[in-house]
Amino acid sequence: MAQIFSSDRACLLYFADEEAAAQRLASAAGLTALAMERHRFPDGELKLRLPVDASGRLPPHAVLLRSLHQPNEKLVELLLAARTARGLGVQHLTLVAPYLAYMRQDIAFHPGEVVSQQVVGGFLAGLFDAVITVDPHLHRIDRLEQAVAVPQAMVLSGAEPLADLIAERRPNALLVGPDGESAQWIAQAAARHGFDHAVCTKVRHGDRDVAMELPTLNAQGRAVVLLDDMASTGRTLALAAQLLRQAGAASVDVAVTHALFAGDALQALHDAGVGEVWSTDCIPHPSNAVEMAKPLAVALRTVLAA
Ligand code: R5P
Repeated sequence: MAQIFSSDRACLLYFADEEAAAQRLASAAGLTALAMERHRFPDGELKLRLPVDASGRLPPHAVLLRSLHQPNEKLVELLLAARTARGLGVQHLTLVAPYLAYMRQDIAFHPGEVVSQQVVGGFLAGLFDAVITVDPHLHRIDRLEQAVAVPQAMVLSGAEPLADLIAERRPNALLVGPDGESAQWIAQAAARHGFDHAVCTKVRHGDRDVAMELPTLNAQGRAVVLLDDMASTGRTLALAAQLLRQAGAASVDVAVTHALFAGDALQALHDAGVGEVWSTDCIPHPSNAVEMAKPLAVALRTVLAA
């Protein structure tokens, strides 16, 4: 893709662990990718160095790529990098966080509980002019700006590219969402390819403890694909798979936007009878089957052109 801006007008900043994703995005967006150096002191503190030019400056437009799985230390990186970038000449700073952390804790269920979505959202809004992300977990709010109040907030979805993959691999799939929140992604995917579809009812009792009821559906002999925004412990999808297998599904595969897969999540899925697991590359994982660089680049061009 042609350069959006020359490298003295804009750049894409990244850390070494996301080099592959940064190069894909830079190439799709026509930006120059520049690595930030990161040193961890023996006591755990971080020292960063930003890739300034010969005069010690950064371009006026900078894009920082950081997918926020395992987010805690990354939030400190963002604080250090964003504040420093401003002092080095950056006037417009965009965060591309293909996975945006802390969006699920969006209400205080008990007195004194931290509503992380508001706190982390406010923190990011204080650092960035624009945020681009994919399927943030917005349950009780409709728009990303309500959580991250930046002038430019853009949300992409993995549902349609995952639907294209499902249509290719399981053309007659019965698409099932494991809970009410997944209804939005199921609707998008079904509208694109006309899949039969249904959504389960879930109640969460603890991190690894969920209860679920299947909707009225005939899964007998069907190739079922479970679609959701994320798998963390995998217990939600594992229980759905187990129930669908008991209901006679011929196969159950899984497609998720965000492959968090904490601990033994993948094993739990396979133990429950799941065959294939597909994900987008918002979080690097062996299950990645869909690249998001092109849609992210389109969003980035819109943000930078505004
Ligand atoms: C919640 O509604 C999300 O969409 C996922 O269903 C949930 O986060 C999955 O969590 P786990 O894999 O730990 O069951």
